[in-house]
Amino acid sequence: MDLLPVAPLDVLRRRRSAKWRFHPDDVLPLPVAEMDFDLAPPVQDALRAAVDRSDAGYPTPLPTLADALAGFAGERWGWEIDPSAVTAVTDVGVGVVELLRLLTRPGDPVVICPPVYAPFFGWVPEAGGRVFEVLLVDGRLDLPGLERAFAQHPAAFVLCNPHNPVGRVHTREELTELVRLATAYGVPVISDEIHAPLVLPGATFTPILTIPGAAAIAVSLVSSSKAWNLAGLKCATIVTAGPRLADVVGRLPQDTPWRVGHFGVLASVAAYTDGVPWLDQLLATLDDRRALLGRLLAERLSKVSWRPPEATFLAWLDCTAIGTGAAPRELFFTRGRVALEPGPRFGANGSGFVRLNFGTSAEILEAAVDRMAEAAAV
Ligand SMILES: Cc1ncc(COP(=O)(O)O)c(C=O)c1O
Repeated sequence: MDLLPVAPLDVLRRRRSAKWRFHPDDVLPLPVAEMDFDLAPPVQDALRAAVDRSDAGYPTPLPTLADALAGFAGERWGWEIDPSAVTAVTDVGVGVVELLRLLTRPGDPVVICPPVYAPFFGWVPEAGGRVFEVLLVDGRLDLPGLERAFAQHPAAFVLCNPHNPVGRVHTREELTELVRLATAYGVPVISDEIHAPLVLPGATFTPILTIPGAAAIAVSLVSSSKAWNLAGLKCATIVTAGPRLADVVGRLPQDTPWRVGHFGVLASVAAYTDGVPWLDQLLATLDDRRALLGRLLAERLSKVSWRPPEATFLAWLDCTAIGTGAAPRELFFTRGRVALEPGPRFGANGSGFVRLNFGTSAEILEAAVDRMAEAAAV
């Protein structure tokens, strides 16, 4: 399969998105979770056609978005979604916060598993809750730790599957046990499945709602925005599979679907229906970059260790041999002019780690590791 090309750096630097605007031109930006590949051709066509029609008004997510997602999820994961149980939301962040507002009373604990996607730490208090941490153990869910936490009756658990930043795909067995515990203690599970289409060769994604019993206790958030690189278009979906969680979703603010981006809906429909061959090419390309990064680290930057991710285009690099806290990130930035996410943003147990975005060309990846190696050698 042909790998996806990436435009040269001077062309990428013309982009106006956050990844390319945060830093001066001498910095290689590998932090923000945006990829450098061109948009999938069907997505480009859908957006161009909308511009040609001057079609930039309010969105109509239903039924097209729900049908397209259901078709994709059925084909890809054998996950039978009822399109009438799909609700469009602005983005995954808005979806999680709005659900938490409905499930949480002021000050209620909400469980998350650091190191985890940094905004989880903000979404919980935004909804009035209090973060209750159950740390990952060796990159996996700490199921006994979760049971102890659930016994204290938190308002909800926000799961990240696949788990950013460690790139772990929770197994069917782990999720089965999680659902058993959540059911036993009556803790609703909000499963952020935004990275699901980005599961790489070697791993298998299990949608939480395919676990027996999950329908009564869990809700899933899915979006095309990570895998097809559409974050700026503002469109995600909440999926339920049973009346209890559907009732919660039914209490979302009435205007919720109106707050979705029209271009996001059009692009997502194109992605889910005609963008799957491109997605497969993307996964082959990311698999190639993952292997390249492994070789580069072993050859040139052996102070840094990692466990290759099972999903995502994000690498969680253990730089504790270089420093603690955000020191490695600062060193790579100031001496190497490579921008990475500092590990402590993902939780205190991210001390000494950095997160690197390998959704880019082999050339940029190689240049970044060279610069990091030089910075670390000083
Ligand atoms: C786990 C996770 N959830 C949510 C988001 C953000 O999604 P959205 O832009 O739809 O809020 C990201 C972005 O990288 C993410 O990694």
